[in-house]
Amino acid sequence: MSNIAHDYIEDYIRSLIPERKDHIKLMEDYAKENSIPIVHPEVAQFLKVLIKSHKIKKIIEVGTAIGYSSSVMAEAAGEGSQIVTIERDDNMYRLALENIKFCGFEDRIKVIKGDALEVLEGLEGSFDMVFLDAAKGHYDHFLTHCIRLLRQGGLLISDNVLFRGMIATNKLLIRRKITIVKRMRKYLEHISNMKELETVVLPVGDGIAMSCKL
Ligand SMILES: C[S@@+](CC[C@H](N)C(=O)[O-])C[C@H]1O[C@@H](n2cnc3c(N)ncnc32)[C@H](O)[C@@H]1O
Repeated sequence: MSNIAHDYIEDYIRSLIPERKDHIKLMEDYAKENSIPIVHPEVAQFLKVLIKSHKIKKIIEVGTAIGYSSSVMAEAAGEGSQIVTIERDDNMYRLALENIKFCGFEDRIKVIKGDALEVLEGLEGSFDMVFLDAAKGHYDHFLTHCIRLLRQGGLLISDNVLFRGMIATNKLLIRRKITIVKRMRKYLEHISNMKELETVVLPVGDGIAMSCKL
């Protein structure tokens, strides 16, 4: 129960997504068996449509985990795409490298090991999209760099912004999550009111914010 959409709606939407039989599917199974939080299937689908429809080629991802979403995005972005993805955890970093190699996307995906804020500070260039999927309480810290690194018209996609419904109502709030919730609410208010961005929050997966750099 995500507390974002009714279960029957979520189940129905997921039933429409064609099942895969390749290494991407093995990554989905591995994540499930090992409780690794990868993007929800409908979020992966949303990213694919966005990337294909906007011909997105240059992407920064914050939060690689096992390399699932970066592989999904690399496949959608196609030949010649460039994805820089950042992961601070040793084990995740190693698994991501293995998975990306297995998918044959080493030429499209560069995994950088380190803390996202430090890595972002050192990055230069103009990217079509930034996908934020790391520690939920820290999105606001990454924001200045995300905006700096996006081209005009580029997209900032922030995942898990409704965090099991807790962001929208205190009725669902778990006490030990209060700091994350407060920070996420502040982040959403921030990106919704910045003159540099136009933002929409969508009840897809665990909640997505899609912002366009003006
Ligand atoms: C939700 S998972 C990413 C899932 C991945 N995007 C996918 O869908 O396949 C979040 C990951 O971000 C990493 N992470 C969290 N905070 C980070 C930070 N400040 N810098 C780098 N990595 C971070 C965690 O170690 C974790 O593996």
